[in-house]
Amino acid sequence: MPHRQSLYAFIGMIAGPCIAIMRQNNSMIALLWAEDENGIIGRDNTLPWHLPSDLKYFKAETLNHKIVMGRKTFEGMGKRLLPKRETVILTHQKDYAIEGATVLNNVQDVLALDKEDEMLFVIGGSEIFSLFIPYADYLYQTKIHADFEGDTYFPTIDWTDWELVESKMGPVDEHNLYEHEFKIFKRAK
Ligand SMILES: NC(=O)c1ccc[n+]([C@@H]2O[C@H](COP(=O)([O-])OP(=O)(O)OC[C@H]3O[C@@H](n4cnc5c(N)ncnc54)[C@H](OP(=O)(O)O)[C@@H]3O)[C@@H](O)[C@H]2O)c1
Repeated sequence: MPHRQSLYAFIGMIAGPCIAIMRQNNSMIALLWAEDENGIIGRDNTLPWHLPSDLKYFKAETLNHKIVMGRKTFEGMGKRLLPKRETVILTHQKDYAIEGATVLNNVQDVLALDKEDEMLFVIGGSEIFSLFIPYADYLYQTKIHADFEGDTYFPTIDWTDWELVESKMGPVDEHNLYEHEFKIFKRAK
């Protein structure tokens, strides 16, 4: 019997942390970003390109959902809250407060958050994408077929885990100078 008790204690030790990081419902997590031909996503804490078609896509997909971003991305956007979206900002700073946003200090608190939302969008930047790749169900990638100068890249990802489920070209016109493609990947394993 003491043997069995120690087995249970061992299972509890292992399962406890696993249960703590499991999501609490069936809602899903999507990473959404735009990258250039070389995986660049940012420069000087802002976007390296001007591409209104992608901003329109971003808005259409994220409207009425929770969006999760890193403190640097939030500040790069001029600390502006996007309308009709619930903003979650991740920072290690315990006293960081933004009126109208939820500020959290770790990934587990974000995972515990997504209770009623059917899709929670993680919108960057690179550090935050790295944290959420293991939990993501979908990837919304805008691939811009052009080369830009930049200092921030989308993290390395094992693409064999992902299956392309949708792909459509964006418009190229006088406002949108770069060929670009909206791709959606679903986790395959
Ligand atoms: N192309 C795109 O689609 C796209 C999308 C989003 C962003 N971007 C670009 O990406 C760049 C910013 O990316 P980045 O990687 O430098 O910064 P980031 O991911 O936006 O933010 C990093 C910050 O997040 C907080 N953080 C990181 N890990 C954390 C953790 N485990 N727990 C709590 N907080 C944590 C820290 O804030 P504290 O330092 O306050 O602790 C850290 O400094 C910018 O150039 C931006 O324009 C591009």
